[in-house]
Amino acid sequence: MLPLPQYDFLPTGTHDEEARENFCRGLAVKLAADIRPSLKTLFETEVKPAFEAEHGREPNFREIAKAMRRQTKAKIWYRLRTDNQDRMYSVTGDMISRQAKTLTDRALSVFGTTGSLTLDPTLEMPRYLTEVDIHRKPGGYHHEDFENDISPGAQYDRTIAVHNMGSQGINNDDPAHSIANWIHATYPQLEPTQILDMGCTIGNNTLPYKSVFPDATVYGVDVSAPCLRYAHARACALGTDVHFQQANAQQTGFADNTFDIIVSRILLHETSASALPQVIQECYRLLKPGGLMLHCDAPQFDALTPYQASLRDWDATCNNEPFMMTVYDMSLKDLYSNNGFSPETYIQTFVPGRYIAEKKIDPNATPGFSESYFVTGALKSA
Ligand SMILES: C[S@@+](CC[C@H](N)C(=O)[O-])C[C@H]1O[C@@H](n2cnc3c(N)ncnc32)[C@H](O)[C@@H]1O
Repeated sequence: MLPLPQYDFLPTGTHDEEARENFCRGLAVKLAADIRPSLKTLFETEVKPAFEAEHGREPNFREIAKAMRRQTKAKIWYRLRTDNQDRMYSVTGDMISRQAKTLTDRALSVFGTTGSLTLDPTLEMPRYLTEVDIHRKPGGYHHEDFENDISPGAQYDRTIAVHNMGSQGINNDDPAHSIANWIHATYPQLEPTQILDMGCTIGNNTLPYKSVFPDATVYGVDVSAPCLRYAHARACALGTDVHFQQANAQQTGFADNTFDIIVSRILLHETSASALPQVIQECYRLLKPGGLMLHCDAPQFDALTPYQASLRDWDATCNNEPFMMTVYDMSLKDLYSNNGFSPETYIQTFVPGRYIAEKKIDPNATPGFSESYFVTGALKSA
């Protein structure tokens, strides 16, 4: 039995929908835990030796990805994983479109009970979000079919609840829960009164900042109105006072020197080569002197072996994440220091995940998932 969040606008499945969803989840685990390791064996025993014999050196991550893509077994893995991604969105899409209006009414009924929601219908979507359907999700995160639609938020919530399999806690908030506690322990001098989460989607990783820093006013910004409506309803249902605003992280509209802490989770790799420096400049502008910027994303390639880095190739080539290979291969230390932050303040570490360590309740969670969170950041000089 899956641990699901407790609010009545989380989509529910029929018997057949849940069976299809369970199939997706089972196949995802099989592909990650059983089949992928056998591709590593193929790489070590055949592909790497052949490359070294031809070139007289070890392959880099791009060369590994290119060579592996030619292997029949890897092609099958790419195909199965891509089909499974489409299947997941088809299953949850059917589930949500069947109940979209009811879920929206339920969400609207709790609006305004705590925190706030501020939408900006004039906000232009960044081109990198309209050019491709990110993660192959039809319409991306921002598409709306009717007034007050919350469907993309509902779909995100259902998808993470099913695919995290409880490994990030019932509210899928272990990354922020862990990182907020780590900030509290590591930077006790901050005593934040203003905190901002950029690219907050449905706010699952925004709310823990209010729990860990109850005296702070916590904001979440995102470009997606339907996700923010869902985020606001979800925060109201969970009784957590957070302010959600529709804004572009490249230019949020907040005043200079507003925040003590600015965080994001899995935002950076979803931007673009021109947007990313602007996001960092915006963080610098918005932070108070002495304030902390901390971004959580997948590990940079310099923290991985070339083979591990090559595994991102599927996301870049099949899952509509065109910026991924570039962002994970760049020096974030240079990026941050070229956009305001002093290089001496650069932060790069793995924050231990608290939930799995504390509760150890989910023996079926994907192995290795959620054991730690990779973060990078910097401090604005005081
Ligand atoms: C992968 S989701 C983030 C998930 C969320 N932070 C979590 O922890 O589950 C990326 C989010 O970033 C948002 N986004 C992308 N570019 C943005 C930008 N320039 N400004 C604000 N939000 C942005 C997208 O709309 C999307 O909701």
